Amino acid sequence: MTSPPPPPGCPAHTPPPYRSGPSVAARLYGPDFAARPEAVYQALRALGPVVWVDLAPETPALLVVDYAACLEVLRDAGRFSKDSRRWQALNQGQVPPDSPALALMAWRPSALFTDGPEHARLYTAITDSLGQLDPHVLHDTVIACCEPLVEEFGPRGRADLVTDFAIRVPGRVLARLFGCPEDVGARMVRGVGGLIDATGARAQAASQDLSACLAGLVALKRDRPGDDLTSWMLQHSAGLSDREMVDQLVLLVGAGTVPTAGWIASGLKLMLGDPRFAGTLKRGTVPVQAALDEVLWRNAPMANFSIHYAIEPTTVGGTPVPAGVPLVVSHASSNLQTHRLYGKTVAHNRAHLAWSAGPHACPAQDPATAITKTAIETVLDRVPGMRLTVRDEDVPYRPGPFHRTPASLPVAFAPVQPSARFGDHP
Ligand code: HEM
Repeated sequence: MTSPPPPPGCPAHTPPPYRSGPSVAARLYGPDFAARPEAVYQALRALGPVVWVDLAPETPALLVVDYAACLEVLRDAGRFSKDSRRWQALNQGQVPPDSPALALMAWRPSALFTDGPEHARLYTAITDSLGQLDPHVLHDTVIACCEPLVEEFGPRGRADLVTDFAIRVPGRVLARLFGCPEDVGARMVRGVGGLIDATGARAQAASQDLSACLAGLVALKRDRPGDDLTSWMLQHSAGLSDREMVDQLVLLVGAGTVPTAGWIASGLKLMLGDPRFAGTLKRGTVPVQAALDEVLWRNAPMANFSIHYAIEPTTVGGTPVPAGVPLVVSHASSNLQTHRLYGKTVAHNRAHLAWSAGPHACPAQDPATAITKTAIETVLDRVPGMRLTVRDEDVPYRPGPFHRTPASLPVAFAPVQPSARFGDHP
């Protein structure tokens, strides 16, 4: 049997030996992978349900690329732990301390890295508090965060919808939902921006400043509670300490910003660049939800994550998996594999793994959907007639294994004067 040729970024068939152990089938970083991840996933699925990849230079992991195998990992908390202190190569000093993968994988005392009852306690405090958000207030909050951004770029007649809009919306919305006073909110947004864009010492400094800023917010809300997420989490029967509160707020803002920005940007790309959606836009009917569903299936904003560690040597989908190796769930690969089974009928179909599954599934699915949908509707409504100034297929994506986010989305439009547009929202 002859195999298809490996795509760029995927030296799949004669993989070089990786150190003394695994053979790495693909690199999930760099421009080649960012340009054509679908081809890499397809080639990896041909090799098996679980394959060795590099997440960054000298940072190997096992990628679970098959849908059923992903569910096997996500649903078996008895065999697989989220605690990255089990990562043997890291503990043995084999992972470079400046590996960019560490920004998301290094252990922190948050729900993301806990298991069992400890996780349930933190997760319930988060989900119950998110459940208290009033959808109408959230809707108005998102519009209030989007309008100043549109006001800034509207008069120019051109914009980059990633840097001028998508990447800036989630942090601003979360700052308001947390009940941040204006100066604290601005500092939080700066801290998150630093985490996203900086590396090494600058990222570390941004992370420290973000924690310090959120510690100030927790102290403020203990003293003077308000009608906001921070106060609801503090009042929750789980009884979170101040330290635990800061760690969960860092998780919320860290986990919420990039995937939501990616979803907004990919949704806008589809609405503006795909004739199926661009056509409906011209007719004035805007099926944003259908575009958002399609993004979750075809371009999962958290492409590869939900990292687990086998507690004992085991198998996944029949493939041997050693203990203490990062087992990365490919939401993107399993969605692309399954998407084909559903053909064109993915709108409203929620069998995808874009939100993950099992005990660690994203607790913010409803608010994240509301933020994304309202942000897209607002910018399309306030800036009519936007058109992409690059071909849809030339839109670049941010490199890296975990997120799927356009790097820029340049558009042009007839300049919008703020005074002409912004008086009409209550
Ligand atoms: C307001 C925006 C968001 C917030 C506040 C948020 C918050 C969180 C939190 C706190 C977790 C950790 C849950 C746990 O480990 O128990 C999480 C997990 C997750 N979220 Fe979200 N999220 C947001 C948006 C999104 C979006 C837009 C996506 C992609 C469509 C997404 C995908 C995921 C996935 C795949 C996980 C599982 C991660 C893992 O287990 O390693 N999230 N989210």
